[in-house]
Amino acid sequence: MQRPNYPSGKDLLSADAVSRFDLEDIIARAQRHLRDEELDKAGQPLPEQPPAPRRRPKVIATLFDQRSTRTRLGFQAAAARLGHQSIDAYDTDRSRLGTSTGESIEDHIHTVELYSDLLVVRSHMEDMPYRVSRLSYLPVINAGNGADEHPSQALVDIFAIREMRGEIEKLSIALSSDTRARFAVSFVKMLRLSPPKRFTLCCLRDVPINPVMREAMTVLADLGTKVSLVHDIRQTLDHDVLNIQMQDMSKFAHASLGNEAIDKEKESEPFTLTARKILDAKSDTLILNPLPRFSELDTSCDSLPNAGYFRQVQLSVPMRMAILERMLAGVPWTGQAGAFRSS
Ligand code: ASP
Ligand code: CP
Repeated sequence: MQRPNYPSGKDLLSADAVSRFDLEDIIARAQRHLRDEELDKAGQPLPEQPPAPRRRPKVIATLFDQRSTRTRLGFQAAAARLGHQSIDAYDTDRSRLGTSTGESIEDHIHTVELYSDLLVVRSHMEDMPYRVSRLSYLPVINAGNGADEHPSQALVDIFAIREMRGEIEKLSIALSSDTRARFAVSFVKMLRLSPPKRFTLCCLRDVPINPVMREAMTVLADLGTKVSLVHDIRQTLDHDVLNIQMQDMSKFAHASLGNEAIDKEKESEPFTLTARKILDAKSDTLILNPLPRFSELDTSCDSLPNAGYFRQVQLSVPMRMAILERMLAGVPWTGQAGAFRSS
């Protein structure tokens, strides 16, 4: 069967794919979708828009072999808001994909691409979105691949900061996280497009920093950001923004908030944020978290004005609408083309 050529810049696999120009374009689109949503909620008419040419709705295929609430539902909700549809193309109980049922990933992707217009892939295998992007002529979004990247989350985080605190270049930003976390890697890489005044990484003292994170921080330092390292969450509470997640993904992978042992220790535990710590520091730091949260973010923080994480979830829909709209229209990403790096 004749297959179309693969256009360059079709995929969002890494934060590297996004250029400064792309970022400004995607933020402007997300702001427009957000404004429309606010007008709609207020019962106001939407601004006059040029009549759209009659088009068939697009089909967004999600292929997720790892759990997800926000990314999967966020892309599905964004597709619905744009008037498109989504299908679940990775339902292993019912599909034939997999060794025991005998259908290869190649045949699966070549089938799914005939039913859809864009593929959203989350996998525990780091090379999976890259494989899918090479197999398919459709645009592919990496929705989180092992311990590599989560670029759409980084775009959501940047948009959330812009909406809630303004221009990133004027801000001090802290990140408290395992430096191997994929959202964290994409976030720090994405910051190079609007380098903050100050960037602080809060991490475990004795664990080596992920070399990719180290490199992204060096890029920020070269761009003039004052970069530093701390080992206690209280040292981040004078920043404008704190993006926080668990410190040790392997240790706390199954821990959830409410665990009694953690509850007792949370005020002395250096990486757990509580309302008491925020109030003691008289901090107005905006708190973001990609969610789900674990022991790092106590629910006592939820009622403080600092808590930005559910607004961040809400803002993810206009941002994901902007991503889908741009990619479905064939607008290429003009940052660095992605080749999978296997280390
Ligand atoms: N939900 C995000 C991810 O899947 C962050 C996390 O789970 O730590 O990468
Ligand atoms: N933030 C995020 O990726 O959440 P999910 O794992 O629920 O998609």
